[in-house]
This record gives sequence, C-alpha cells and structure tokens, in this order.
Amino acid sequence: MKIIQPYQPLLLRVVHGLTALFLILAMITAYWTYDVYDGRWGHIPLPKFEEIEGIHGTFGLWTLLIFPTLVFYAFHQGRKRLIQKNTFSNLSHVSKQGWSYHLHRLINTFILFSLTFAVFTGKMMDEK
Ligand code: HEM
Repeated sequence: MKIIQPYQPLLLRVVHGLTALFLILAMITAYWTYDVYDGRWGHIPLPKFEEIEGIHGTFGLWTLLIFPTLVFYAFHQGRKRLIQKNTFSNLSHVSKQGWSYHLHRLINTFILFSLTFAVFTGKMMDEK
C-alpha cells in the first residue's frame, strides 16, 4: 500500500496554523478598532466597543510572538518555498508548466515581508 505523506510537515502545520489564526483575529479586530476610533475612509455600523483596541493589541502581540518561529522555519527547511535566483526569469514564461509554483514562492516571500512590517509598526503604535 502506498503511504501518502502529508503536504506540510507537522511543525510547519502547527506554526503556520497558529500564525494564520492569530493574524486573522488581529486583522478582524484591527478593522473593528479602525471602525470605532477612526473611520476616515468610511465605516460599517459595528457596535462601539471601545475595548476592541486592547483585544487587537493582544492578538497582534500573539502574532508577533509566534511569527519568528515561522520565519525561522521558512528560512531553513522551507527555503525552497521562498523566492529563488531564477524566480523572476521563470515568471516571464506564463505558459510554462509550474509557473504558479514560482508565483507562489514570490507571494510567500512577500507575505513574510509584509507581516514583518505590520507587527513592527503595530508595536510602535501608541494606544492613546
Ligand atoms: C495585519 C494587520 C495588523 C497587525 C499584524 C497588527 C499588529 C499589532 C501589534 C503587534 C501591536 C502591538 C501590541 C502590543 O504591543 O501589545 C498592535 C497594536 C495596535 N494596533 Fe495593530 N496590527 C494590524 C493592523 C492594525 C490596524 C489596521 C490598525 C488601525 C486601526 C491598528 C491599530 C493598532 C493600535 C491602536 C494598537 C495599540 C493597541 C494597544 O497597545 O492597546 N492595527 N498591532
């Protein structure tokens, strides 16, 4: 019988899952914070729940704490899933097989950069 390997190793699965969970909660509560305290680009009628800022801070902090583990994993065992020397040249051949894998590597790398900026600028936020 053929043994089917899981697509992601256990460590990646756990770290990736926790980062995603905390980040999604941070993003939802971030929007709610924006809606309660700012709303300059429009808002939806969410309840005026002022404690949401502190709750966002908590999920943001949890994301910040787990994220370095994912980065460490990504730069070691997972480095093949990040941008490679030939990524850009391969991306210009849209019709070639495997094109989407090169795009996926670019997106993975871009997300790691974006989240790094999000958590560090979040840490610089003044709750007032
Ligand atoms: C991907 C999106 C975001 C992430 C990952 C993120 C992450 C963080 C982190 C790590 C903190 C620091 C928490 C602490 O030091 O205890 C924080 C605080 C904060 N963030 Fe965000 N943030 C995001 C989006 C936003 C947005 C869109 C807003 C705009 C309303 C916002 C408003 C704040 C505020 C006001 C604080 C200070 C909260 C406090 O200290 O009680 N964040 N965020």
